Amino acid sequence: MGQTLLQLEDLHTQFFTSRGVVRAVDGISFHVDAGETLGVVGESGCGKTMTALSILRLVPDPGRITSGRILFRGRDVTKMTDEEIREFRGNDVAMIFQDPMTSLNPVTKVGTQIEEAMTAHERFTERLARGRVVELLKRVRVPAAESRVKDYPHQFSGGMRQRAMIAMGLSNEPSLLIADEPTTALDVTVQAQIIQLMKQLNRELGTAMMLITHNMALVASLCERVVVMYAGRIVEEGPVEQIFRSPQHPYTWSLLRSVPRVDEARKERLVSIKGLPPDLSHPPPGCKFHPRCPFVIDKCKTEPEPQLEEVGVNQVARCWRLMRTINEEELDAAKSSGLSKDAAARLKQEPSATVGAPPSGNNNAGS
Ligand SMILES: Nc1ncnc2c1ncn2[C@@H]1O[C@H](COP(=O)(O)OP(=O)(O)OP(=O)(O)O)[C@@H](O)[C@H]1O
Ligand code: SF4
Ligand SMILES: [Mg+2]
Repeated sequence: MGQTLLQLEDLHTQFFTSRGVVRAVDGISFHVDAGETLGVVGESGCGKTMTALSILRLVPDPGRITSGRILFRGRDVTKMTDEEIREFRGNDVAMIFQDPMTSLNPVTKVGTQIEEAMTAHERFTERLARGRVVELLKRVRVPAAESRVKDYPHQFSGGMRQRAMIAMGLSNEPSLLIADEPTTALDVTVQAQIIQLMKQLNRELGTAMMLITHNMALVASLCERVVVMYAGRIVEEGPVEQIFRSPQHPYTWSLLRSVPRVDEARKERLVSIKGLPPDLSHPPPGCKFHPRCPFVIDKCKTEPEPQLEEVGVNQVARCWRLMRTINEEELDAAKSSGLSKDAAARLKQEPSATVGAPPSGNNNAGS
């Protein structure tokens, strides 16, 4: 295991609204080691982006970090002065957002923007920065980089803009790159190229990555470890391969059932999880997943939420039951519910049909 780069300890980030307090991040603890790739997955609204923005101390109003620690190389980000936090954002960590157009300035040439990102933090002199821009664009495989530095963002395709954003993110050689749904705005082929690129950069530069996504297939192709979030909390965490092979939390199991197998187009067999995620200002009592869980028992509703417990080597989950205790009958019933009759019948013939194929190591590319 590498050296710990980032350590979140019982982080709480809340929004103070007229409807009440929204617990967007509700006691999260995890770490990222130097050079590793960590996936953070969960449905829309579970707190992924707010976790990332908390790390950068960029939580928008009316939200704020209310408690917990964010240690980066042992220094608490929540206690940094304004100047320290600016330096931290510019030099140690970079974030890539879903839509590069919102992060790129439309009236400034792409090359100039990357150059400015470097000189703003005084890590590179102007001359050095200028020399590095083409090199960076080449590194992220922008063709004809020498001439494209003079282009404006609208002259770049969606995939090229995302590459430019990654180049900008890497320009100050951060130790951690946080990518928040970096490929959702792109078509499938370009998505695969960007993932391939991020994988190469991680290998070549040793930059640790935190990939935020609701797509388990992406995690399988890029990450070594995964944190599964539900309603502002971590419900399961562990090595990707192990979690794909043997998810223990029913929510993780459900998420995996909605992953298409790479080898076949079988849209009708994709399952979406029944019901909606809870309102984070009024979460349900007990286990927060209980209103949607196919394996719910009384205890899940009446007892306080279960703790994260070790369920395998380096794997933890928060559940009273765990998938390994669920019998075939219950499993079959759960698999059938929420599916079309046809799909359910086919599933019974092929019990593992919708479970995502486990990744074979960390380099089975999303291509
Ligand atoms: N400005 C806001 N005011 C009130 N609540 C907010 C605000 N922004 C976010 N939230 C709450 O914070 C929760 C977490 O939001 P976050 O953006 O982190 O979700 P996410 O997991 O990134 O979802 P997505 O996959 O859709 O990007 C949401 O459920 C939402 O209710
Ligand atoms: S604790 Fe109960 S409701 Fe929650 S995930 Fe486990 S079985 Fe389902
Ligand atoms: Mg988000």
